[in-house]
Amino acid sequence: MQDHQILKDKTIIVTGAATGIGQAFSIAASSYGAKIVVADMNPGDKTVQLIKSSGGEAIYTKVDVSDEESTKSMAKAAIDWTGRIDGLINNAAYFREVKLTPFEEIKMETWDRIFDVNVKGIWQCCKSVIPSMREIGGGSIINISSVVAVAGQPGYLHYVATKGAVLAMTKGLAKECGVDNVRVNTIAPGFVITDATKNRPIEWQQNFLKARAMSREQRPEDLVGTAVYLLSDLSAFVSGQTHVVDGGHIMY
Ligand SMILES: NC(=O)c1ccc[n+]([C@@H]2O[C@H](COP(=O)([O-])OP(=O)(O)OC[C@H]3O[C@@H](n4cnc5c(N)ncnc54)[C@H](O)[C@@H]3O)[C@@H](O)[C@H]2O)c1
Repeated sequence: MQDHQILKDKTIIVTGAATGIGQAFSIAASSYGAKIVVADMNPGDKTVQLIKSSGGEAIYTKVDVSDEESTKSMAKAAIDWTGRIDGLINNAAYFREVKLTPFEEIKMETWDRIFDVNVKGIWQCCKSVIPSMREIGGGSIINISSVVAVAGQPGYLHYVATKGAVLAMTKGLAKECGVDNVRVNTIAPGFVITDATKNRPIEWQQNFLKARAMSREQRPEDLVGTAVYLLSDLSAFVSGQTHVVDGGHIMY
């Protein structure tokens, strides 16, 4: 537990929180006092257990972010638990499954599925939680994009396109919801070592490393400070921004 409980009394939903970066966001937000709804299509018990064993509070709810009814149930689980939703991290993504593929060879069904999860999914989650944020006088949403949306990446056109859409959705939503004191920001991570990326080609990882100002691997923990800041009232007048956290690869 951190001394400064800057997220005390806030209920925060983290999608894709069963593992990787979403799990790191959940643990960090909990350590600053937030109650965490671990939302994932896969079991999130490990994340809940890690939070509880450090003295935090968390529940797991199963969600498929691409399904409207499922995201409504996710929001209901949060409201039933604490009566409010202060924050949402849209972190779940069709990512681990992405195969490097020349753009002409991407299958139509893969293109549709990745847009369903990475773009429509964020829209559905926002639709489901923003009414509660409006009721309590505001909230903070963080959408997880990627450095590839800014820098491009060969063989990843479908994924790059979805993460570019995330940047644009952040700006559109921020303009539309600012009147309700709902802030919307993007975090764009660099290449981060997680279970999802550990089998990516080694030369690929090395290229990212060479391009960085800070010459070391990026870990999920490198992203959490920015997320905690954006969820907290310390960033009360920050909205619509892209926060690239990649050790100084892209200087944006
Ligand atoms: N790891 C990286 O290098 C990197 C770089 C830039 C951006 N990102 C982004 O960060 C986020 C997390 O990446 P990660 O490396 O932790 O990946 P990960 O595969 O470990 O985590 C993704 C999580 O999302 C969940 N998920 C997938 N589809 C879902 C759905 N339809 N509904 C609900 N949950 C679903 C998965 O079960 C998983 O727990 C993703 O948005 C990814 O695009 C990752």
